[in-house]
Amino acid sequence: VKHISEVLAALLSRTDTPEPIVVLDTLLGNIARMQELATTRGLDLRPHVKTHKCVEIGRLQLDAGASGITAGTIHEAEVFADAGCTDIFLAYPIWAAGSKATRIRRLAESVRLRVGVDNSASIDRLAASMHGATSRPEVVVEVDCGAHRSGVAPERAGELARYAAKVGLEPVGVYTYPGQGGSSRDARKPAADQQLAALETAVQSLRAMDIEPVVVSAGSTPTVEYSDQAPITEIRPGEYVFGDGDNVQLGACEEDQVALFVAATVVSDTMPEHVIVDVGTKALGREGSPQKGYGRALGVGDGRLLKLNEYHGFLAVDAEKRPAVGTVLPIIPNHVCPVVNSYAELVITNNDGTSFEHWAVAARGT
Ligand SMILES: Cc1ncc(COP(=O)(O)O)c(C=O)c1O
Repeated sequence: VKHISEVLAALLSRTDTPEPIVVLDTLLGNIARMQELATTRGLDLRPHVKTHKCVEIGRLQLDAGASGITAGTIHEAEVFADAGCTDIFLAYPIWAAGSKATRIRRLAESVRLRVGVDNSASIDRLAASMHGATSRPEVVVEVDCGAHRSGVAPERAGELARYAAKVGLEPVGVYTYPGQGGSSRDARKPAADQQLAALETAVQSLRAMDIEPVVVSAGSTPTVEYSDQAPITEIRPGEYVFGDGDNVQLGACEEDQVALFVAATVVSDTMPEHVIVDVGTKALGREGSPQKGYGRALGVGDGRLLKLNEYHGFLAVDAEKRPAVGTVLPIIPNHVCPVVNSYAELVITNNDGTSFEHWAVAARGT
């Protein structure tokens, strides 16, 4: 396997920077490894497509054995439905107003659609948007397991499921997102434990209402390694497909499993402590800190991006590894999802940089 800098060198005459480069062989390895983890544990894998928003990559995940996809927006669901995906979980507390009411109804009539719910007002809206529809969505009650983002307390899941059934929707299970597992290496396992406890309580709460859950759905890339016990039936990791700097820091992937790099060119070298590369917040997102950096260039020592302006990245340089103006460098982003969202296309290459394609980031709408 060639170093990514050599791959980039092979691509250079055919690409401009900044550009997201995906190494297909690494991507395929990530897809196969996660599928194997799910299959070995008897779990359904329902990858979250927010990470790539790319139909070709979704197809690779489904061809490898994924049971369906997870979407975070109606547009993601629509784009993957149009591309032939027939099983979609919209894992978001959608408020079905305006055009979203019509769009979600159209989706429910064309694919098997599951929708996340965590309040009765949204359930009412969703039910109203389905008035007269030929097919209705299944609903999955979101419970909170410690991320304190959205989701009801696990013991209230049954109440909400019963309400959904009362207004004519079909409650099929529960889901949760253990976002707290991404805060540090040591947080991953406790978050997975909290997730399991919350899902167990939620399942009991549905059973107390005589509703047998068929889906008990768990997140996320940092916690998936520990999400292996009943009653979990399904996992929804997203970031695993590319990996990123944050997941390397968390120990949730290895650096050689990172499949997406942003290619950047050194454009200015007038200051002693840094050089400027052509990736700023518009190319790399805003996530990071001065200590951790805002992304990391490979092959130049420390490689931390110390600061970002809109179009300028301040790259820390070692005196003996100072890259000359014009040098193209691979940057590992901290958090890959917002990076992908800021480009219209991904540049796909194989390990040696010989094959080369553009795949659209097709699902960037709301
Ligand atoms: C509801 C939900 N499920 C699954 C995921 C995927 O988790 P990750 O991005 O860690 O792979 C996310 C990520 O934000 C999410 O919000």
